[in-house]
Amino acid sequence: MTLEHTLSIIKPGAVRRNIIGQIIGRFESSGLRVAAARMLRLSQEQAEQFYAVHRERPFYAELVAYMTESPILVMVLEGEDAIARNRAIMGSTDPQKATPGTIRFDLGKNTTRNTVHGSDAPETAAAEIAFFFKPDDICPRHE
Ligand code: CMP
Repeated sequence: MTLEHTLSIIKPGAVRRNIIGQIIGRFESSGLRVAAARMLRLSQEQAEQFYAVHRERPFYAELVAYMTESPILVMVLEGEDAIARNRAIMGSTDPQKATPGTIRFDLGKNTTRNTVHGSDAPETAAAEIAFFFKPDDICPRHE
């Protein structure tokens, strides 16, 4: 097992529904620790840049519009195999295809309004964390 950091975003709808604590509780009870956290509202440019890999996809405009609707909570989660573990806790992108008990199955509305984002690989985790946080912002929680 490897100690990893991964980026987690609680998306606008979930922040508005006031279920931040419920979502963080699921991460914590699954062994992940919050190593950094910040609430912010993404600008159009930031959302376009963050999701640039999806630029050519048909859902890109809807995704950017949704992610800029209202504030999000961005977090760095720390733990053993945090990247894969976070994705397992989140469940499949489409809440209708997600496993019961996952965040997206239990709390997601649809593929765009799917409650949370999580990095999918070590390279993307490093890039996505650097998008929102400076190295000094991250507090090691494993000591
Ligand atoms: P997220 O983990 O934030 O990464 C990309 C997002 O695009 C994804 O979650 C979904 O919210 C959104 N999206 C919308 N439609 C699709 C789709 N058909 N396939 C993948 N992602 C989609």
